[in-house]
Amino acid sequence: MKKILLSGLLGIASLCAGATDLFFYSPEDGNGGLRLAVKNEDGSWRSIGNGYDFVKSDFGAWGAHKKMWNPQLFPTSTGWACLFRATNSGSVIGWAESPDLKNWKPQKYLAPADTSKLTFRTNVGFLPASVDINGKLVAGYVMNADDALISSLDSYVAERGKLYSLYSEHADKDGERFKDLAPLKATLTATGKSKGISPLLMGIFFEDINYAADGGLYGELVQNRDFEYITGEGHDKAWGPEYAWSVAGDKISFSIADDDPIHKNNPHFARLDVKGGIATLVNNGGNAFINSGYDGIPLKKGEQYRFSFKARSSSKMPVEVDLVSETGRKLASGKIKLKKSKNWVDYELLLTPDEYSSKASLHIVPKNNGIVDLDMISLFPVKTFKGRRNGLREDLAQTLADLKPRFVRFPGGCVAHGNGLDNMYDWKGSIGKLEERKPLRNLWGYHQTRGLGYHEYFEFCEDIGAEPLPVLAAAVPCQNSAWESVYSHDDLTRYGQQCGLPMDSLDSYIQDVLDLVEYANGPVSSEWGKKRAEAGHPEPFNLKYLGIGNEDMITEVFEERFNKINAAVKKAHPEIIVIGTVGPFYEGADYEEGWRLAREQKVDMVDEHYYVDPAWLIYNQDYYDDYDRNGTKVYLGEWAAHLPGRPSNMETALAEALYLTAVERNGDVVSMSSYAPLLAKDGHTQWKPDLIYFNNTEVNPTTDYETMRLYGENAGNTYIDNTLVVDTDNDKAKARVAASIVKDDKGDIIVKLVNLLPVETNVDVDLKKYFPSGAGLNSIRTVMSGKPADEKASVVTDRVTLASPFFEMPLAPYSFTVLRIPSK
Ligand code: AHR
Repeated sequence: MKKILLSGLLGIASLCAGATDLFFYSPEDGNGGLRLAVKNEDGSWRSIGNGYDFVKSDFGAWGAHKKMWNPQLFPTSTGWACLFRATNSGSVIGWAESPDLKNWKPQKYLAPADTSKLTFRTNVGFLPASVDINGKLVAGYVMNADDALISSLDSYVAERGKLYSLYSEHADKDGERFKDLAPLKATLTATGKSKGISPLLMGIFFEDINYAADGGLYGELVQNRDFEYITGEGHDKAWGPEYAWSVAGDKISFSIADDDPIHKNNPHFARLDVKGGIATLVNNGGNAFINSGYDGIPLKKGEQYRFSFKARSSSKMPVEVDLVSETGRKLASGKIKLKKSKNWVDYELLLTPDEYSSKASLHIVPKNNGIVDLDMISLFPVKTFKGRRNGLREDLAQTLADLKPRFVRFPGGCVAHGNGLDNMYDWKGSIGKLEERKPLRNLWGYHQTRGLGYHEYFEFCEDIGAEPLPVLAAAVPCQNSAWESVYSHDDLTRYGQQCGLPMDSLDSYIQDVLDLVEYANGPVSSEWGKKRAEAGHPEPFNLKYLGIGNEDMITEVFEERFNKINAAVKKAHPEIIVIGTVGPFYEGADYEEGWRLAREQKVDMVDEHYYVDPAWLIYNQDYYDDYDRNGTKVYLGEWAAHLPGRPSNMETALAEALYLTAVERNGDVVSMSSYAPLLAKDGHTQWKPDLIYFNNTEVNPTTDYETMRLYGENAGNTYIDNTLVVDTDNDKAKARVAASIVKDDKGDIIVKLVNLLPVETNVDVDLKKYFPSGAGLNSIRTVMSGKPADEKASVVTDRVTLASPFFEMPLAPYSFTVLRIPSK
């Protein structure tokens, strides 16, 4: 932590020259940030921006936990500094700097003892005061401030307000907004110029959120197969090693044991004490050890399911394994004969249900007296995606493959950097034999078996022809962390970035990062390449991209660690493209500082995130137009249109389609993009909206999925420069019509047209520069349309013969049209 030194009479002159009293404060309960008020001529006080938070604390867990008390504002040689209590007790002190009180730098957090190292000029000219703001007496401080400062703050807040109301424009008011709008005419002309764009623009970001992995994409049907659920890691009060398991009948008792487990990473197992007397057990199938699956076990009639477990039995023990419907009917049954053994023995059988069930359960029925230890109790459909063992749920994986993703980012998101330093996703704990993997608390409030681990992610990428893009923590946990770690000893190390991994552990952390590259790409003779081969994949995975960090706060703690990791990777593997991070928003402290750092460190690419109103996407189509073409590239790693109530509907889908025309146009600087989050299981959703909802038997892609699928299917590697002229003076209408033209690797020309208006727009498309013969063109047209609030899109594809390369294309109200003109 740098020493913060404030000395001399910094800025005092400008303060003294002022004519206005400025009052600064934060709400008494800490729920708010630095607020400012000015004294009116009549002696009353006016809050600037009516309670506008000029800077908010970023310390602690999400939302309500981020608080600010007693902010004190100091002039500095470069502007201002705000010192505040980030906890009510003052156990953590926050420090934020700003040149102008509008733009703020990433914050610093200090233990109270460290504030003694700070040198403050105490006579800065502010005095404690209590003033009346909107009828409430508030405690804070008063200083004398320059009129110019006050008026610049007023203008700033007014400007923010205008943007806020612009971005609050939703389609439900389009009727009113465009009541006088007649159908529009537009002209789209290909100018004849073109540029290369990234062939990897459309990809997916898979995070284990909303039960996306266990109980989702991962094919395992038994929940808590390894008895490693930990009390407290799940939202459910009953959560613990026995979760999802029960016994029926009074001849079996079940306990969790940990003596001589299969592996130290998998310390718990089930111990069944069976003492019914053989006759009772054989005749009475009612005694069973039962798993309820993830909301039940879905079974298809006539399909094979592979059951397996590891067992250690004190006696020879016949065991019946049944798949039982909700009504108690046996849909499939098989027998296993357990040996008497002191060691763990593997058993397996295939079961074929004779009936469909959406909610079956697994019954293990021991038929002899004795003590049986069971672990890694598993049931997988034999038919997984591409038939892999330990594979993926076929329909879900296929739905992802249908997006034609050029890359897959995994395993997070917040899951990658974790809630607390102990919770960072250690990739090594996710590979190897299933029973040797390290289960991990999922920060979204459940458990990760990590049966779907790094090796499986790499294989999935290979199966769908996508580049793998793993993301590793930058040795700091999630900025919203609030979970104890072995490094926690006070509030400073308990919340937020927790001071990052201690620097004396960084070398070993960096080695883990380098080992990942070796696991993916190293020869089988190398230590980690050998492990890949042992897992069944001697060929390298050809890893080219590596994310370091996930929307972290770009603090000194972060920068120190990130720079070392980035430098080490680039030194050892100059061929790897490192993707850094620039915070969770499209602007602000982390975005600015993240980009500054990326330029300074010449980071190959950075990962931008923004979840925004559809109207933000409408009004920011020029967002990338001025980005430097020759520097750090952009990965738009997490984005989505968010409406109030967070639905996925035609409005969000079309706003994304509209924005993606601009992303394609900027495909020379934006190299990759992925909507987030990808998957959500009904009834287990922590975040909305998502691209695909599912339950055990159905997959329900959203309207936004259709947008991403159409872009994935119709991506290009060349951008055909064009001009779009929409014939109206209505700027709001103009902003809602957009187009892009690309050429793909087959030479097909693809025109995308979006009309986010309640009226038709007729577009004259001029492609003469590309089809100079003037002959007619056969094309394939796909139109996605609907009303803004529709949660299902109509998507219709037809063949259209265009009379010449200059043709008219009518765009229905609220529609997205893709026109593919094959080169041959
Ligand atoms: O996509 C959901 C979450 O959003 C991600 O985990 C995180 O990176 C972002 O805050």
